[in-house]
Amino acid sequence: MQKRENWGSKLGFIMAAAGSAVGLGNIWKFPFTAGNNGGGAFVLIYLVFVAIIGFSVMLTEFAVGRRRQQSAVGAFKSVDKRWTFTGVLGVLSGFLIMGFYPVVGGWAIAYIFKVFGGLLNNPAVIGDSFNAFITNPGEPLIWMVLFLLLNVVIVVKGISSGIEKAGKVLMPLLFVILIVIAIKGLMLPGAMAGMEFLFKPDFSKVNGSVVLAALGQAFFSLSLGMGCMITYGSYLSKKENLIENTAIVTAMDTSVALLAGIAMFPAMFAYGIAPTEGPGLVFVVVPTIFAEMGAMGQVFAILFFVALTVAALTSSVSLLEVVVSFLIDEKKFSRKKAVFSSSTMMVLFCIVASLSLGGLGPKLFGTGAFDVFDLLTDKIFLAIGGMLLCIFAGWRLKKEELYDEITNNGTVKFSLFGIWYPMVKYVIPGTIAIVAVNGIIQGFE
Ligand code: PHE
Repeated sequence: MQKRENWGSKLGFIMAAAGSAVGLGNIWKFPFTAGNNGGGAFVLIYLVFVAIIGFSVMLTEFAVGRRRQQSAVGAFKSVDKRWTFTGVLGVLSGFLIMGFYPVVGGWAIAYIFKVFGGLLNNPAVIGDSFNAFITNPGEPLIWMVLFLLLNVVIVVKGISSGIEKAGKVLMPLLFVILIVIAIKGLMLPGAMAGMEFLFKPDFSKVNGSVVLAALGQAFFSLSLGMGCMITYGSYLSKKENLIENTAIVTAMDTSVALLAGIAMFPAMFAYGIAPTEGPGLVFVVVPTIFAEMGAMGQVFAILFFVALTVAALTSSVSLLEVVVSFLIDEKKFSRKKAVFSSSTMMVLFCIVASLSLGGLGPKLFGTGAFDVFDLLTDKIFLAIGGMLLCIFAGWRLKKEELYDEITNNGTVKFSLFGIWYPMVKYVIPGTIAIVAVNGIIQGFE
């Protein structure tokens, strides 16, 4: 077998995997999902899911990917042909996420230019101008295509040269900017109500659909349940410590989500913006915070949207990479052909998703396309993908095989193996099944 391309360095891998995890899911989706689901209790449940299910599933994905030395579909297929569908489901999820992700990525790019163009001059109309923008049938499409083109360029260049470089430079920048925004927000009068909303659980707000939303958010945010981390793991050197890598990536992703929440909620409460603002939250709250700071605010706002764009890019390249490596490994496409054909299809889906938000779109496609992509992917496909992966690892792979892979043939200590293994084999699949069924039933009431 041909030796696989490897990550240039350990830092390169962590940056790329964390780059995949940290994205619109943390900065755009987490705050508005927390807002829509009542705040503190949702956040607490999300954190519990991340620590227990997210960590275990990510470790399993890395282990399966590195063990099999293949991307999502091949990793399952090479063990047992009957499991091929699990990998295919993952590729499909990646493809569907790319049916709306570039739309929001495009909004982020657009906002870099809108801030330049004087968006902050009139804080009172920031909210209305966001709604006018996303419901415009033309403009968001141009930005979406631009966003997707950036992906194409990075992914055509291949693993270590493209994705790794982008991640290494741009991730730390994002972290710093979020801290600045959070400090600014916390200093506003009335900010503490936002912290309370975010961190003080009110369990009367919990029902099945809130729990499912928290589970879906954990999967989406950590890039799990669709083979992305399997693919990245397959490029990881046999010497690396999987447990340590999993812990670092999980911790980074979760701290960015919490930081984004702290950057958003205190300021919202201070300004009297409703926590249920929805998908426009980041695009309204952040410019409003910076509007009153004059020229400095303008600089910060631009930096913020640059960072958001970059975070979105390092995630979307990983989504595209899953689809592309499937076409290369399984369908024998050249990298170029794989990238161009898949991104052409994605553009079509994105056009439908974007137009569904306004203008003529609702008449042509119905209003739900954007929400449907979103619901199908994180709440259903990813959770089921994660459940199937755990069943596969627990019931189809040998226990010794997993142990050897995770501990690098016994050289790395993993004292929690005795807990992790039954979690993956029984507890996680069972929990996901219950949460999914319960959430779907309650969500459709
Ligand atoms: N985790 C990414 C984000 O938070 C989205 C993503 C999901 C990327 C699944 C890859 C796979 O934005």
